[in-house]
Amino acid sequence: MSTVGVVGAGYVGLTTAACLAHLGHEVVCADVDKEKVAQLSKGEVPILEEGLDDLVAQGLASRRLRFVVGAAVAARDAEFVFLCVQTPRGDDGSADLGAIDDATREIAPVLQPGAVVITKSTVPVGSTVRVDRVLREAGAVTDVGVASNPEFLREGSAVRDFLHPSRVVVGAEDTAVAVRVTDLYRGVQAPIVVTDPVSAEMVKYASNAFLATKVSFVNAVANICEAVHADVRDVVLGMGYDPRIGFEFLHPGPGWGGSCFPKDTAALLHTADEAGYDFGLLRGAIDANHDQQARMVDKVRQACGGSLSGAQVGAWGLTFKANTDDLRDSPAVAVVTRLLDEGAVVRAYDPRVGESAAALLPGLEVMTDPYTAVDGAHVLAVLTEWDEFRWLDFDRVAEAMQRRSIVDTRNLLDPAAIRQLGFEYRAVGR
Ligand code: UDX
Repeated sequence: MSTVGVVGAGYVGLTTAACLAHLGHEVVCADVDKEKVAQLSKGEVPILEEGLDDLVAQGLASRRLRFVVGAAVAARDAEFVFLCVQTPRGDDGSADLGAIDDATREIAPVLQPGAVVITKSTVPVGSTVRVDRVLREAGAVTDVGVASNPEFLREGSAVRDFLHPSRVVVGAEDTAVAVRVTDLYRGVQAPIVVTDPVSAEMVKYASNAFLATKVSFVNAVANICEAVHADVRDVVLGMGYDPRIGFEFLHPGPGWGGSCFPKDTAALLHTADEAGYDFGLLRGAIDANHDQQARMVDKVRQACGGSLSGAQVGAWGLTFKANTDDLRDSPAVAVVTRLLDEGAVVRAYDPRVGESAAALLPGLEVMTDPYTAVDGAHVLAVLTEWDEFRWLDFDRVAEAMQRRSIVDTRNLLDPAAIRQLGFEYRAVGR
């Protein structure tokens, strides 16, 4: 078993640290946020992620997992150091590497001979080589290695994705370093792809851009289905049985969002631009995604008789998808923002988002239950696919609303049952 330092206790860092401790490694996880470190040391996990609380509790109890302030503290005795700090999107779409550079400079002087520094968070193509250079400049000993080991963790199933991955990708110039990194995953059943760092970094961007394009594609198909009176759900069923296509990432909706797809597609487009390649296909997928959000607003406007000014809208769901509490780049929030801009009064409800989220947008009201959100509403917009929305009392919803009208941007509800209650029902591609 190995000693591992993890720099950054966000979604990726915390999941990586807790899962590596679970696999038997000695893990020290660092963050700059003192309060967060204190919380985590007591076993309080600040994010909603299935199974993570238990793994953190187990790690703390077995003393295989510790939380500390400062990257250098985590790196001091480590054989492997994972960099899991944020790489936010700059104005031009490129990823901002400031946090990676800072962490690299901080750990460089304390690294042990033979230590391996691994980029885990999504970093632009070429970053692992850059980490290597920054390490040397900042005085790291000569035999420190670097590797890229991109994460493919979905929010809401990050622990499962880590422990049962579809694949593990390791990029290193030095094969011995790559073999040592793959060894960390002993006990995990998955194909292992060993390559050079640049290719490993490309795997991550290409995968996310492909998935985002797949969703944009199915959203476009759904839009055509509306025009030709086809039902996209049957179309997708017929497509998905083809193993070359598959069923996953074929659900139409209000567009993709979250902490990864928007950032990663923009970054890959930027990389392509810099490389002199016109990636029109990806640009099209990104543009289609913005259009999709606008189409959802059109549907709500139509449901309100052509104008949103003064219309009362109940919005169910604010997070970027179900089973997370993450609002980053949420299509639901984007739609609500446009509704408010056009003069609608929006009352939202989300099972995982409290009233404090009202501070997000001027004018937004956030309710603590789904029924008060639709009280007096002209239209209900379902914006996130929370399963519990299916099982609510729609008789009660019907009674509470001023007009019985639903825009279901996630195709979550049963149209026949909803229409039977006298609702006008609009969905996506059906
Ligand atoms: C994604 C990648 O899946 C993961 O591998 C990567 O490491 C991080 O980014 P995540 O951001 O958690 O994970 O969300 P994901 O489940 O992939 O969904 C992304 C967006 O696409 C969401 O807004 C979701 O609602 C949307 N989506 C997804 C659809 O609209 N339809 C689909 O069929 C699938």
